[in-house]
Amino acid sequence: MSETTSPAPLFARKTVAQLSADHPDGHTLRRVLGAWHLIALGIGAIIGAGLFSLTGIAAADNAGPAVVLSFLVAAVACGFAGLCYSELASMIPVAGSAYTYAYATMGELVAWIIGWDLVLEYAVGAGTVAVSWSRYVGSLLGDYGLSLPPRLTASPFEGVDLPGGAHTVGLVNLPAVAVVVVISALLMRGVQESARVNAVIVVVKVAVVLAVIGFGAAYINTANWHPFIPPNTGHFGEYGWSGILRGAGTIFFAYIGFDAVSTAAQEARSPQRDMPIGILGSLAICTVLYVLFGLVLTGVVNYHDMKGDAAPVATAIGRTAFPWLKTTVKLGVICGYTTVILVMLLGQSRVFYAMARDRLLPGVFATIHPRWQTPWLSNVIFMLFTGLMAAFVPISVLGHMTSIGTLLAFVIVCAGVIVLRRQEPHTRRDFFAPGVPVTPILGIASCLLMMVSLDAGTWVRLVVWLAIGLVIFFAYGRRHSRLAAARAG
Ligand code: ALA
Repeated sequence: MSETTSPAPLFARKTVAQLSADHPDGHTLRRVLGAWHLIALGIGAIIGAGLFSLTGIAAADNAGPAVVLSFLVAAVACGFAGLCYSELASMIPVAGSAYTYAYATMGELVAWIIGWDLVLEYAVGAGTVAVSWSRYVGSLLGDYGLSLPPRLTASPFEGVDLPGGAHTVGLVNLPAVAVVVVISALLMRGVQESARVNAVIVVVKVAVVLAVIGFGAAYINTANWHPFIPPNTGHFGEYGWSGILRGAGTIFFAYIGFDAVSTAAQEARSPQRDMPIGILGSLAICTVLYVLFGLVLTGVVNYHDMKGDAAPVATAIGRTAFPWLKTTVKLGVICGYTTVILVMLLGQSRVFYAMARDRLLPGVFATIHPRWQTPWLSNVIFMLFTGLMAAFVPISVLGHMTSIGTLLAFVIVCAGVIVLRRQEPHTRRDFFAPGVPVTPILGIASCLLMMVSLDAGTWVRLVVWLAIGLVIFFAYGRRHSRLAAARAG
């Protein structure tokens, strides 16, 4: 008999009970993660290229010392989304995150769109951080007088300076590919191993942030904070309140990742209780660290001096009496980036795992390795996809695609909370987002605002990506869907 069945209605949805029954405990992924693992997963995914590379740029170009307020604005927007994620994750504790929630609320088509969209957040996000990682490695080697061949550390769309002064373009970013390959190999070996490595590196990463805050605090020159909100230049986004908003749009990237906690719901020991702790706990800890970090950075280095500086941390440390700390901090940052890539790639494979379980994607994405108990073939495929992105696409394109994809996911998750409160008011929820429907509406509004602030090219790329996804959905997913099969009896 052919596997193809007549399709279900486009907006056919799964009930929460159906979703939980689809994923019986213990038969697939292993439930090994506790609350601390989940908080560590969140911090592992959150602190990365955004904090260490974008803070200086947002301060210099948009907000001045008020980049601290940009951090708070972005945190509030993420907080609304985080509360909504927490409610849904405690209610639907299975793999797949926003994709699964959309299946339960808005049906198969929206679920597909969001699952496809999450590739932008996770796989492309991992690629973005891999490129930034490659830059920090180059800078660290440079401190020791070593250098990698410049054309092998940049994409063909970026200019590079050759020894002797000639200027050309890059070929391929090989270090970025290398880090993606190594981390994918780790993920194939097992989630517990990956979570353990993540936890160790998170400690190092948080120590680096605390060291910058602690050592830097003594070197703050309060004159650098005046005026705290530099007057607007007459152009939207250049200082003043609009600068704080534009800065928040840029800094948003630094918060991406707390939602990745929810992709591991099926590997959590007590997902109902621990998911909200992991999501909101990691978001809260990072917000406090970011605000302190922003205060110290803009206090030590005047924001004018941070123009175009993609490694402001190193600049700040260079102004203290501890320049030796610079190398240690760079090493910590390089280690810290690896966990962002790790959790993003972990999330990616789990979303496609859920989609393949629902037969919206081919079974290869749900094939579990008999010994490692991981979706290893999916890891291989995304190793290739993310590796190609990191090798050949410039960081600004990757970063903006990550942000727009994530914001779209947040919008749908916030809407999902409102829909599910009406559709399934009596289903067990261990966590209630406060203030529904105001909280999710504010979440949707703030995410849409940040989406609108992104450039037209990013929007075009989003539409093209979603259009490719729809072609695949109608050619494959819709015809093979398990829900369609169930309906056909
Ligand atoms: N929030 C992550 C970072 O900043 C994606 O690297």
